[in-house]
Amino acid sequence: MERFHYGDLAELKKRASELNAYLPFAEDTGILKTGIRIGDHILCNRLGTAPMEGADSLPDGSPSELTFRRYIRNAEGGSAVIWSEAISIVPEGRSGSTQLLINDENLDRYKLFCERIKEAGLKKNGYAPFLVMQANHSGRYSNPGNVPSPVIAYRNPVYEEFRAADDSCIASDDYLMQLEERFGESALLAKKAGFDAVDIKACHGYLLMELLSAYERPGRYGGSLENRSRLLMNGIGAAKAYEDSDFMVTCRLGIYDGARYPFGFGVSKDGSLDPDLTEPKELVSRLSREQGIGFICLTMGNPYVTTHVTRPFDKGKYEPDEHPLTGVSRMITGFAEIKKAVPEMIIYGSGPSYLRQYADLYTAGAVQEGMIDGMLFGRLSFADPDFANEIITQGRIAGDNVCITCGGCGDLIRAHKPTGCVIRDRDVYGGYMKEFALEKKDLPKNYRG
Ligand SMILES: Cc1cc2nc3c(=O)[nH]c(=O)nc-3n(C[C@H](O)[C@H](O)[C@H](O)COP(=O)(O)O)c2cc1C
Repeated sequence: MERFHYGDLAELKKRASELNAYLPFAEDTGILKTGIRIGDHILCNRLGTAPMEGADSLPDGSPSELTFRRYIRNAEGGSAVIWSEAISIVPEGRSGSTQLLINDENLDRYKLFCERIKEAGLKKNGYAPFLVMQANHSGRYSNPGNVPSPVIAYRNPVYEEFRAADDSCIASDDYLMQLEERFGESALLAKKAGFDAVDIKACHGYLLMELLSAYERPGRYGGSLENRSRLLMNGIGAAKAYEDSDFMVTCRLGIYDGARYPFGFGVSKDGSLDPDLTEPKELVSRLSREQGIGFICLTMGNPYVTTHVTRPFDKGKYEPDEHPLTGVSRMITGFAEIKKAVPEMIIYGSGPSYLRQYADLYTAGAVQEGMIDGMLFGRLSFADPDFANEIITQGRIAGDNVCITCGGCGDLIRAHKPTGCVIRDRDVYGGYMKEFALEKKDLPKNYRG
């Protein structure tokens, strides 16, 4: 497997061109300093922090001091948007006993959380980040109390190769129907806490995303696209009841799973792994037309199975049969196809971190070419929380603190340990990595994080 070794941008571009991987690179990053309007909010740059689960909640699911630290560093680092990590909306849908969970009982702590993040950005940069709360049900990957308790949309042999489930795990229509209102309630909690928006999450193999490929599920949540997207649409509808000029509803949507039909969404029906974005385009168009959603974030892949599709890497649990630059290119060209089909939708892209210090010129190129409107940075925001300010004030990411896509943060999150950058933030996370290394030998052979 070829690792990232490019001496300069010209070398990187040459390799991408040899691979036929389209990557847009701008001459400079000026365009990233331009503002963007989301509803009544003016965001002063095109850069954001992506949702990154940190497995560091207090026992009641509220943010700990370590959670505060992560978000305050990103707010001080200049991200105009901070899109929170997955916050569970029900106890049985939690990905682990240290995943964030929001409810009436711990709301005060979330109020303090939002207040402190906004204050930090305002004090350091003169603006508070636009704060999105990602509301989630982990579905197949539910692990309350760190005990696997899958809640699945349908039997999926591709996913079950890596995570066991049986018929008893299939969520009933009644269970799904009551979740619609739970998503609505999560919006009210997010609003009361002080978030600017709620994301009804539908990506990365979690419950709402898995439903999108439930082609063969009987009943009101399977079969037609209308049925498969019913929970997403009705969850959004329930959340919309709380929308006003200060609070918006959005969605992080996976437009391609990387699994073959009929076990993946956004894939060709010819049995290949080629993306077919006909349905994702239809869905985004409906989000705009029927639900009045004005901005979304797009992503791809299922990080438990097709990790390389979600976050192209140099080091991981398996060797993908494609080059990482091909993965980055699949994302940006896919996002651009959606943007072209639904131009009125403000689209945030994902997945730039593989490109290290060139992620800035890449993002600028993508915005310049109208492929996306802004970008959320994931692993790189763990490694270098100041990336946005470096771009805004110096024109480029400094480069000495970039993510090296070593997979350390991915290992920590799957081990339910506090998660961050084990290389650039070693003093805080190095110890957890050592613990993980000792425990690794007990993991199943086909384990994929
Ligand atoms: C440790 C870790 C935790 C993540 N947690 C979330 C999450 O809570 N919600 C989500 O939508 N995506 C999550 N992601 C995916 C990232 O948001 C992002 O899409 C992915 O890392 C690719 O972006 P990058 O190349 O900038 O890292 C996570 C990724 C990692 C590595």
